[in-house]
Amino acid sequence: MITLDVENVHTYYGNIHALKGISFTVEQGEIVTLIGANGAGKSTTLKTISGLLRPRQGRILLEGDDLGAYPAHEIVARGVVQVPEGRRIFGRLTVTENLEMGAYTVTDRAEIARRMDFVFTIFPRLKERRHQTGGTLSGGEQQMLAIGRALMAQPRIMLMDEPSMGLAPVLVESIYEVISDLHQKGTTILLVEQNARMALSVANRGYVLETGRIVLEGSAQDLMTNPQVQAAYLGLQ
Ligand SMILES: Nc1ncnc2c1ncn2[C@@H]1O[C@H](COP(=O)(O)OP(=O)(O)OP(=O)(O)O)[C@@H](O)[C@H]1O
Ligand SMILES: [Mg+2]
Repeated sequence: MITLDVENVHTYYGNIHALKGISFTVEQGEIVTLIGANGAGKSTTLKTISGLLRPRQGRILLEGDDLGAYPAHEIVARGVVQVPEGRRIFGRLTVTENLEMGAYTVTDRAEIARRMDFVFTIFPRLKERRHQTGGTLSGGEQQMLAIGRALMAQPRIMLMDEPSMGLAPVLVESIYEVISDLHQKGTTILLVEQNARMALSVANRGYVLETGRIVLEGSAQDLMTNPQVQAAYLGLQ
């Protein structure tokens, strides 16, 4: 079943044509990655899906439902939840309070507690730090918190914007172990990355984005062995 269907989407910033007709799908249970260099349009794609930007042409369907009809918060309520680029956690709130913000639409305290327990099983480190404020966490812990906050909304599809950005290699590895683990537990993920090697290592399928256009697509395995991808994104000859 196709969860997310992006059809010929064009997005502009004023008269800057950032997305020039991109189309792709994400199916239930998949990790799909969108790889591309600086300025390719990766974040613009996620913001357009989240409803923070609107396509000037084309449409985005969630299980057949056109998201163009809904304001951003209703898109979240439908299960499309973004982990933003650069983490954007609340520095003055505690870990627990940050997580609660992710479930702001839920009023049932027991349900919130259940979801928080799930996040703490994924990220035991966050449990240890639950009374600490977000601003005092390390970069890797902040990324865990940003992912945890998204999980609190129980996403049908999680949109992740460069989760490896700015992290030391060992932390990148541990964040990617979590992404793999979430995938195994059934979470559907659209993963945007400059770090093509890591993204392709966990993804089922991928698309290569260059200056607002999809120029290649295929299974993660095919992309990883594609000479063009190897030369441009994997640092291989
Ligand atoms: N607020 C904005 N106003 C004008 N142009 C923008 C704005 N945000 C992004 N752009 C332009 O849109 C294009 C796509 O940017 P986008 O942020 O989507 O790239 P990206 O693939 O996420 O890059 P990065 O890997 O550096 O995060 C770029 O040319 C960028 O300069
Ligand atoms: Mg970006």
